[in-house]
Amino acid sequence: MSPTPRTVLITGAADGIGWATAQRFAAGGDRVVILDLRDELALQRAAELGEAHLGLGCDVTHEGAVQAAVAQALAHTGRLDVLVNNAGIGDQPGGTVDQSVDAFDRVLNVHLRGSFLMSRECGRVMLNQEQGGAIVNLASIVASAGIPGRNAYGAAKAGIVGMTKAMAVEWGQRGIRVNAVAPGYVRTALVEKLQAQGSLNTDAIHARTPMGRMGTPAEIAEAIAFLASAAGQLHHRRGAGGGRRLDRPRRRHPLRAARRGVVNSRPSKDLPC
Ligand SMILES: NC(=O)c1ccc[n+]([C@@H]2O[C@H](COP(=O)([O-])OP(=O)(O)OC[C@H]3O[C@@H](n4cnc5c(N)ncnc54)[C@H](O)[C@@H]3O)[C@@H](O)[C@H]2O)c1
Repeated sequence: MSPTPRTVLITGAADGIGWATAQRFAAGGDRVVILDLRDELALQRAAELGEAHLGLGCDVTHEGAVQAAVAQALAHTGRLDVLVNNAGIGDQPGGTVDQSVDAFDRVLNVHLRGSFLMSRECGRVMLNQEQGGAIVNLASIVASAGIPGRNAYGAAKAGIVGMTKAMAVEWGQRGIRVNAVAPGYVRTALVEKLQAQGSLNTDAIHARTPMGRMGTPAEIAEAIAFLASAAGQLHHRRGAGGGRRLDRPRRRHPLRAARRGVVNSRPSKDLPC
């Protein structure tokens, strides 16, 4: 149990990984605010957790809706300790040449604009409270591995990784830890929709996964809860030790740099662009 109940905001928490995460935090004694596009389901889920918890309809792509939801959560609980940027949608079926601009924009908006707006509003609160805060973003293996037919989704998740690093170095010394989890395939409505569209080869996924199966939402919820906990305090973006200095380029060993054809491996004084 958490010593003092924290307030945990989770976007897209009416279903899948978000809902499992809401249940995980509530079981640990925290007060959960469930935000979801599906307002009735958000309210129903909060009621299932108990009266200390709150469910709110919120489209994370709308600035006004995000501001109103964060203000309502703060008014209800008086504090804001953890934000989990989980709301997400998959790519439209088909390849890049058939992708519509609207569908591409929608994927980027939900994942990137949504995570930015939520982080900005919660960051404004967390920077001004003594206990600081923690933000956990949902990336994906697709951020580092190319998957056919996942153009917008891949761009969005790589963007989430970049945004996580930027916020981690901007806020790390001001009391807000920012991390991301990057799950492989997890059996949720999002994955079942891809499967129904015929854009997922379940047998191939099972075959190349060491455990021979997809993950469960509860397993991802456990990782998120750890990164948001006091036990995960030395984790910034990933790894332990207070986080590698993400605002400086990695210093390469001269021999390894030469082998890779890197001519000037000295860290620049400027931020990497
Ligand atoms: N399932 C996987 O295999 C997998 C793998 C890696 C990463 N992820 C990421 O994990 C997160 C959760 O995925 P999931 O599989 O649980 O999906 P899901 O479809 O089961 O749940 C997503 C939830 O987000 C909500 N949502 C969608 N758009 C929203 C918006 N604009 N504003 C507010 N809420 C919105 C939906 O209503 C839904 O309740 C996503 O960011 C996804 O990209 C999932």
